Amino acid sequence: MRDEVKPGGGPSHVAVIMDGNGRWAARRGLPRLAGHRRGADTVRAIVRASPELGIRYLTLFAFSTENWKRPAEEVNGLMGLFRRYLRKDSAELEANGVEVRFIGERTRLNATLRDLMQGLEGRTRGLDRLTLTVAINYGGRDELVRAARGLATRIAAGEIAPEGVDEAAIAAGLDTRGLPDPDLVIRTSGESRISNFLLWQAAYAEYAFVTECWPEFTPERFAEVIAHYAARERRFGAVRA
Ligand code: FPP
Repeated sequence: MRDEVKPGGGPSHVAVIMDGNGRWAARRGLPRLAGHRRGADTVRAIVRASPELGIRYLTLFAFSTENWKRPAEEVNGLMGLFRRYLRKDSAELEANGVEVRFIGERTRLNATLRDLMQGLEGRTRGLDRLTLTVAINYGGRDELVRAARGLATRIAAGEIAPEGVDEAAIAAGLDTRGLPDPDLVIRTSGESRISNFLLWQAAYAEYAFVTECWPEFTPERFAEVIAHYAARERRFGAVRA
């Protein structure tokens, strides 16, 4: 049973759909990749600001299973940005007590990127000021399919009975195993969709859709959204106490 969260409590786990990089760039007559580069600056600023705002877990949607449909130049540019971010920021993340995790299907990613991801996960494991989870080649349905396959394999091997498949078993098969569910999901750029992000985990989350594009989203605006959340009351299907 979950505890009711009383007004005044800030979110412990915030997940963000970082949307609007392309539109931000287009409005300025810049290539889309310039928007993604500015988006990486916003990532840095929001990660730095999170612990001060009482956030213990921050999860960012960086690349979806659908994003491969974009032009090769943009996909390659984004992958290059991820590699650069992991190389440039790993020392700062580690020094600041940030544990870094990745969710999503990795085999389709290039080997250099996968090595950087694995290396950073290993070096930061157990750090506990902030857990930063980055979703790369992530889709909520894809994650559920992989979890279901894992459970089916274990049932076929006789390791668990079909009746052993419960919510805890499914949660333990997801990429997010061990992470608490998000309390708040923020999406920038004015779109009100969840786009296949944390489908299972965000069942009881609050949602905040903000109009700013990701490159113009500031730590100050982030703090406002967090404060607004803290004033709401979550009941998880129960009635007011
Ligand atoms: C959505 O904007 C954004 C993305 C698909 C990429 C997010 C990537 C970053 C913020 C870059 C850096 C990330 C890390 C973790 C270092 P969009 O391109 O869909 O914008 P649009 O809807 O306006 O076209």
